[in-house]
Amino acid sequence: MADRYLGFTGTAPGRFLTRRLGLPQPAPLRRWSPERPELDGGLLHLTAGKSDLDLAPVLARTGLGPDDTGRPAAVVLDASGIRDVDGLAAVHAALHPVLRSVAESGRVVVLGAPLDPTDHHQAAAQQALEGFTRSLGKEIGRGRTVNLVRLTDAPAAESTLRFLLSPRSAYVSGQVIGTGAYETPLPHDVDRPLSGRTALVTGAARGIGEAVAETLARDGAKVVVLDVPGAEADARRVAERLGGTALPLDITAADAGARIVEALPDGLDVLVHNAGITRDRRLVNMPAERWSPVLEVNLASVLRTTDALLAAGALKRGGRIVATASIAGIAGNAGQTNYGASKAGITGLVRALAPHALAGHGVTVNAVAPGFIETKMTAAVPLFIREAGRRMNSLAQGGLPVDVAETTAWLAHPASGAVNGQVVRVCGQSLLGA
Ligand SMILES: NC(=O)c1ccc[n+]([C@@H]2O[C@H](COP(=O)([O-])OP(=O)(O)OC[C@H]3O[C@@H](n4cnc5c(N)ncnc54)[C@H](O)[C@@H]3O)[C@@H](O)[C@H]2O)c1
Repeated sequence: MADRYLGFTGTAPGRFLTRRLGLPQPAPLRRWSPERPELDGGLLHLTAGKSDLDLAPVLARTGLGPDDTGRPAAVVLDASGIRDVDGLAAVHAALHPVLRSVAESGRVVVLGAPLDPTDHHQAAAQQALEGFTRSLGKEIGRGRTVNLVRLTDAPAAESTLRFLLSPRSAYVSGQVIGTGAYETPLPHDVDRPLSGRTALVTGAARGIGEAVAETLARDGAKVVVLDVPGAEADARRVAERLGGTALPLDITAADAGARIVEALPDGLDVLVHNAGITRDRRLVNMPAERWSPVLEVNLASVLRTTDALLAAGALKRGGRIVATASIAGIAGNAGQTNYGASKAGITGLVRALAPHALAGHGVTVNAVAPGFIETKMTAAVPLFIREAGRRMNSLAQGGLPVDVAETTAWLAHPASGAVNGQVVRVCGQSLLGA
């Protein structure tokens, strides 16, 4: 379902009218394309206070040169060395003079340090960066995004900075992402980082899953398109187009894990749990027949297949698990007690499994939490609720399946080993659960 309002505000009379009425002003977002893979413009690197991070070599590899036009496409503010409230004045001093000049669809990335539990002044100042980032994200406008990365080691954060400072993160804003200690990145081809790797995407016959399979294939992966037997024709069509294979399988089948292991005797590198369903109804009107399938597809089968694949050693060294949560699991949503429960469960699974999966194997476990994404699922939502869902975020528009796919591709990247146990919302900084 096309977003007609976005088209209307792109015209001169539309812009005039909607501004006069004080209505939302969505800006067309700049997404990745082979012709324009980088942001248009340079990078401004600022530091608030003293920092120990060696950022220059990492930023030099983002593909963005230093800004020499006074209109940067990206601003990186290193605030990782701030240890007390007085230090926060440097954040204001650094960004206040340059914000107006940041280009449309530009990026502001604030770098912070992990909170020090033994120093409440440092913790207060570093936590302050979170409120700062989220507030700036809500006011900056013009398709620009603001995110915070908490890091200890600049090289370990490279894949994250490259993602956030690129058009691939167009719909990711107001996020706080933690990157851990340095892990030597596995060797990879820069243009096709997943080449030689196998990626299985559940629910990939259409919608977000199809976009994920397409983006992972673009990055070089051999994709396995898993979907229910009833969607086999679509799954085959997607697989053929991407040079992959289809796997018709109901993920809730008790032996689904064993069937995947059997279909992939050489193991797999990337496992994307994307299949999901909704059966909305307020709890007072919800029979068990609407409750159980949602918990089964969205959560129980994710736990079962993950356990089966890990137990069989099917996930290779440096493997990546990306599960699909939702902002409904973070903020809650009327009519979605079943769905919200299942998606919050994904967050629990990711946070608890991440430290264990990594141990000795270099496997990471993360989640993407989509907000309002333009798919068949959201096209079926009644008009008024759909329009509210689209507009109630800092970018005043819905995201596209490719936005979730690009985020998944960053998490699946061989150089993203330091990103583990994170739940990254792809929601344009939705006002729900913000
Ligand atoms: N669209 C959104 O705005 C949005 C927002 C938040 C989260 N999500 C989540 O993103 C994921 C994809 O959503 P979508 O909008 O593309 O949905 P969709 O309904 O378009 O696609 C889901 C796919 O999963 C498949 N599937 C369902 N049950 C399955 C099973 N038992 N075994 C195997 N495959 C199964 C379906 O056949 C379908 O192809 C879901 O987990 C959904 O909950 C979507």
